[in-house]
Amino acid sequence: MPVVIVVGAQWGDEGKGKVVDLLAERADVVARFGGGANAGHTTYINGVEHITHLLPSGLPRGLPCVLGDGMVIDLEQLLKEMAEFAAKGIDVSPKLIMISGEAHIILPSHKALDVARDKAKGANAIGTTGRGIGPAYEDKASRCGLRMEMMLSPLFFGRKVSELVSLHNAELEMLGCKKLDANEISDQYEKYANQLVDYIQNTSLYLCQRLEYGNTVLAEGAQGTLLDIDHGGYPFVTSSSTVAGAVSSGLGVGLNYLRTSRVVGVVKAFQTRVGGGPFPTEIHDEALVRKLRGVEGEPGAEFGRTTKRPRRVGWLDLPLLRTAARFNGFDEIILTKADALAKTDDSSLLEFVELCSAYNRGKKRLSSEAEFPIDWMSNLKDYTPYYEYLKGWRADEVCGKRHFDDLPETLRFYISRIKAITGVPVSMVSVGVGRDDIVTR
Ligand code: IMP
Repeated sequence: MPVVIVVGAQWGDEGKGKVVDLLAERADVVARFGGGANAGHTTYINGVEHITHLLPSGLPRGLPCVLGDGMVIDLEQLLKEMAEFAAKGIDVSPKLIMISGEAHIILPSHKALDVARDKAKGANAIGTTGRGIGPAYEDKASRCGLRMEMMLSPLFFGRKVSELVSLHNAELEMLGCKKLDANEISDQYEKYANQLVDYIQNTSLYLCQRLEYGNTVLAEGAQGTLLDIDHGGYPFVTSSSTVAGAVSSGLGVGLNYLRTSRVVGVVKAFQTRVGGGPFPTEIHDEALVRKLRGVEGEPGAEFGRTTKRPRRVGWLDLPLLRTAARFNGFDEIILTKADALAKTDDSSLLEFVELCSAYNRGKKRLSSEAEFPIDWMSNLKDYTPYYEYLKGWRADEVCGKRHFDDLPETLRFYISRIKAITGVPVSMVSVGVGRDDIVTR
């Protein structure tokens, strides 16, 4: 399988970091193809927590890592992450980290605009991560953005930075915000350019050569399918393509290299979302929300890695998952956090779990995808989830398990419903945060 594509099937935070780390064992290169520091991928290796926002999750394994063409890169954040890894003794030299010359650069003024614009939307705010993602992709599309390859000529780059900050300042002033110092930022960015210049490469060529040589590239998705700019619940989406199809343009790898690829959808056993936007299966029972969210600061707790916001939680939504499977072409699903959707005490919490297996619109049950109107993803409030009530499982019945046959009947039935409705088999089940906490068939 020369290219293995790992994408989130929901609203991000499905546990892709752990899955990438796991699959990286059989990969030669790990590459990110889109998004920026809005992502937050966590891995726990030998008890050590690694959080990355930009660097691919393969780095702790010592694999070569590519930041691909489709990314928008916050240089300050990147250098911070590199310094953190270096302090842990992990090689962060240009031998292991390659940055596409075509990737775009995020400036402080992109971040200021992101925050100011979302605030100006008032009640319609998207609740962005404030990392400058939307404004940077807008500049890319309107052809005034800055690319990594510009750093190869630091003086020219510095001038371009200053021009773009001045352009952003005009809008920041209109929005009632303080202007930023264009000269100071351009001086700083010239320094960053000097630090990063050796990392900038033709990563498309590098990846295609590795694939021709027979190597396996692991393409690490960011965010999730329901946040995709085209296929997500627009406008409550991110500004990049998050689906598997984006691998070709986001890494500069032609379709011929992808013919034998394998697409892995990462699915959380329940559902979470940060920021605004419809969430039909959202749970409002405070005790249950607290239970599923976990305790802030503890491994696996449902608080944003990037913004620290508490995540909204809800029941697994299979019609949305079936749609995600179609957009991506999943070959298999890896189910995460089966241990978190498990009963841990004598209370009635999670005695039963709910599973949304269909939607009603008014009195009509929508049973085939063709019955959903074209605007359904953005008008989810008009649809009522139809739930199956299934008997739950206890944490001690799943924690420590390694083989599918050892899982309780209740969880195996839950998994069989996923296959029945999405048509995609579940190949692995994560039952804890550690690298080894994984159940295979
Ligand atoms: P942006 O990507 O910062 O523009 O944010 C747009 C929406 O996507 C907001 O609702 C964010 O909370 C959400 N979002 C962006 N990145 C992630 C992620 O990695 N995980 C979960 N939600 C995300």
